[in-house]
Amino acid sequence: MVATDDRHSPQGESPTFDLSAYLAQRQALVEAALERAVPITYPEKIYEAMRYSLMAGGKRLRPILCLATCELGGGTLEMAMPTACALEMIHTMSLIHDDLPAMDNDDYRRGKLTNHKVYGEDIAILAGDGLLAYAFEVVAETKNVPPERLLQVIARLGRAVSAAGLVGGQVVDLESEGKADITLETLNFIHTHKTGALLEACVVCGGIIAGVSSTDLQRLSRYAENIGLAFQIIDDILDITVSSEKLGKTAGKDLQAKKATYPSLWGLEQSKQKAQQLVDAAKAEMAHFGEKSRPLQAIADYITNRSY
Ligand code: FPP
Ligand code: MG
Repeated sequence: MVATDDRHSPQGESPTFDLSAYLAQRQALVEAALERAVPITYPEKIYEAMRYSLMAGGKRLRPILCLATCELGGGTLEMAMPTACALEMIHTMSLIHDDLPAMDNDDYRRGKLTNHKVYGEDIAILAGDGLLAYAFEVVAETKNVPPERLLQVIARLGRAVSAAGLVGGQVVDLESEGKADITLETLNFIHTHKTGALLEACVVCGGIIAGVSSTDLQRLSRYAENIGLAFQIIDDILDITVSSEKLGKTAGKDLQAKKATYPSLWGLEQSKQKAQQLVDAAKAEMAHFGEKSRPLQAIADYITNRSY
């Protein structure tokens, strides 16, 4: 059960919002759409490898954020679903490549052997490439969304994965390995690029698809920036406090690799406080949208309350 503040709203205020039910329902829709998006065809091996990681059952937080902001802006789930799937494909490919021996050399992801452990490095690299390229095709083929909005989404996605986004963040992360004395500025750069850029794209692309104003896009972007950083701080905390079994990936890796993290710079308590401040700031951005923003407010709370 996911706890939200809303459960304790006094009578007379808006009804409680059941985030668990909301996430479960959206997750099922995303699973079904992903399932349809990547059928197995010739050459089967590559589609199997792509599906192995794509269908390994993550939280689907990124696609859910995209669907939520599209609905917030008055769009439909159908309008945002292709982009939502594309975002999960991009996220999955980044994890396949991140786990490779040339990068983090990890054996487990989402509770299963990593892609290269099962299919070999060659196929794992190609599975990542296949997912990345296919993500853009899926967005471009969206029905019932004006093409100029899709063009903006494609540009945003391209930027989020490029050297100005994920790739740049990963490069600085790799360069910083083994250096426990990196500055807060560098740590922020890594995370705003490696994790934050794609999270921001999820939130902003939903708004673009719905056709929200540029002022509202900026609000969405600030919401994303805040939850993105909070998400990473919590990730760093969980790496220290939660078992590998529960995380579904190797825990304690940051300490082992002598990686600078928020808890290593600030300590656990202050890190938790900072994450909470960021979530509060994210929720404040949503106040403007009123009741419609309940899902996004609850998702922000969930980020600090999650235990894996
Ligand atoms: C996980 O971080 C890794 C990422 C969030 C992204 C890594 C980015 C790349 C490999 C670049 C991908 C290439 C393109 C074209 C997008 P982590 O290692 O801190 O977390 P983990 O413990 O889950 O592995
Ligand atoms: Mg990693």
